[in-house]
Amino acid sequence: MSKALTYLAKARPDAATHLLGFYKHSVQALDEKTRHLIQIVTKVTVGTERGLRQYAPKALKAGASREEILDAVLMAFPAAGLNKVLDAIDIMREMDLLPEIPDAAPAAVSDNLLGALEEFPLQRMHCLQRPGMNLIVFRAAPDTAKVYSARCPHSKANLCRGTDHGETVECRVHNWTFDLASGQCLEPAGGAGLQEIPSVVKDGRLHLA
Ligand code: FES
Repeated sequence: MSKALTYLAKARPDAATHLLGFYKHSVQALDEKTRHLIQIVTKVTVGTERGLRQYAPKALKAGASREEILDAVLMAFPAAGLNKVLDAIDIMREMDLLPEIPDAAPAAVSDNLLGALEEFPLQRMHCLQRPGMNLIVFRAAPDTAKVYSARCPHSKANLCRGTDHGETVECRVHNWTFDLASGQCLEPAGGAGLQEIPSVVKDGRLHLA
């Protein structure tokens, strides 16, 4: 319950009881995922950022895919208009709730040079954007580096927006955690590891292979 509703429940308990009762009992036939997707449509239509931030993660948690969340945002278009839809897309992208643009095959990258090794600090996650893909570079030792796709193997969130713990990164969507030296999934045990992108060090510079 929002802080404002909590306040109302104390300040005007009779009115709030009926209001909350309506929310709780009015919708009976729709499943949870459908209700949250429809909430996204209504929040985009009225242009409430707070409501979007509240209901869109609930839709994901209730089993909606990112494609379905994007569809819900677009369903609002006839009533909301383009500006509200674009504002909602900005918010949803910032929250990692929309589909990532698919990674291009590494071979399609025209400029294979990622940078001089010393540009990537030791034992720290470093994120790079390349056309069609986000990359993570990690140097466990002075002369080597590993390059990974930044797409979370669980459900494709951008790990560059996750929590950088130095030698590990934690996805902020469902908290899977990866060891950056090996790419292995640490939490949950047995989860899929990071996708390593072949790379090579030549003359102190890191290139995609
Ligand atoms: S998308 Fe689920 S843990 Fe990353």
